[in-house]
Amino acid sequence: MTMEQTLTSQERLAELDLKQLRQLVGLVEYDAQGDPFPVTGWDAVVWSVGNATQAALYFQVVFGMELVAYSGPETGNRDHHAFVLRSGAIRFVIKGGVDPNSPLLDHHRRHGDGVIDIALEVPDVDKCVAHAREQGATVLEEPHDATDEHGTVRTAAIATYGETRHTLVDRSRYTGPYLPGYVARSSGYVKPGNEPKRLFQALDHVVGNVELGHMDEWVDFYNRVMGFTNMAEFIGDDIATEYSALMSKVVASGNHRVKFPLNEPAIAKKRSQIDEYLDFYRGPGAQHLALATNDIIRTVDVLRAKGVEFLATPESYYTDPELRARIGHVRVPIEELASRGILVDRDEDGYLLQIFTKPIGDRPTLFFEFIERHGSLGFGKGNFQALFEAIEREQAKRGNF
Ligand SMILES: [Fe+2]
Repeated sequence: MTMEQTLTSQERLAELDLKQLRQLVGLVEYDAQGDPFPVTGWDAVVWSVGNATQAALYFQVVFGMELVAYSGPETGNRDHHAFVLRSGAIRFVIKGGVDPNSPLLDHHRRHGDGVIDIALEVPDVDKCVAHAREQGATVLEEPHDATDEHGTVRTAAIATYGETRHTLVDRSRYTGPYLPGYVARSSGYVKPGNEPKRLFQALDHVVGNVELGHMDEWVDFYNRVMGFTNMAEFIGDDIATEYSALMSKVVASGNHRVKFPLNEPAIAKKRSQIDEYLDFYRGPGAQHLALATNDIIRTVDVLRAKGVEFLATPESYYTDPELRARIGHVRVPIEELASRGILVDRDEDGYLLQIFTKPIGDRPTLFFEFIERHGSLGFGKGNFQALFEAIEREQAKRGNF
């Protein structure tokens, strides 16, 4: 059996099928036979935040996510709160320290709100860890079982950039709401009746920022240790304004569900957004999460009405005749995109619509992208210039440019 026939447990729960996933996140067919580190897909994005109790409510009320599981003092976990939230195939686990000595609070002191773990669902944890170790990866947790009345989960963890980790999860023998130690939990929050069932269906990519000169090391890490392949490649001048620049390369799992663009700052007259991130996150870390939606117009309207702030796109972006010609025909009139600041990019395979939020925490670090794909398997290369200029304007307002 090849991997493309397998849905993750979250995708099955969200009633997504393979055809939808091909459109939403660019899922491709591939033969897992020769893959030394087979990855089925995303398992969870685990966050450390300053106030998990409030952040969990934010993701429900603003992002329309659903609370499904919980761990905390009431369940015997005296160290921290952890709220498990779901939207489509996406699972966020929001953690915040309760015990003043919790290691999560030390992490938060250094990094602020951020992603501590990009957990991946794999069919064979032991095989992955054996390969990773052979390739020189740091194994943070050896493969082990955890069991409760819902079955057994096998997990292990390896280190990636900064203080970020990849937990590897085999949940094929488990039916519980998340992991042993968690209990099912719903929320008293009632979603307004006029709101769509969910504002995004799947995680498309997670971008990592690393220090100057280290991007290729991490590309090599994902190639060698995790068997990822290189996708699009953007270098130097592709993503530069008169003042600042970055370099970016993209690696992906065999089936392209898991895509990791990796950025590093490039030398330029002024400090880039990547430098700003590295300063405020105190090192490498996850920069943005791209959430796939099948109706970006609706998603943006709902989020904006709730006060989510997006990066502004200059009017000239939509009036530029060259851009208009390049974009060609898209599913909505360009005025609909312009009024919302939604960007368009097209390549040989199709097009995509995308928009970026401002940083969602107190530090200018982590933010979200919303993406609606129509055949394009890219990341919005054609928009990097316009986007970068918009980010520079925001950086200047913060006094970090
Ligand atoms: Fe992105």
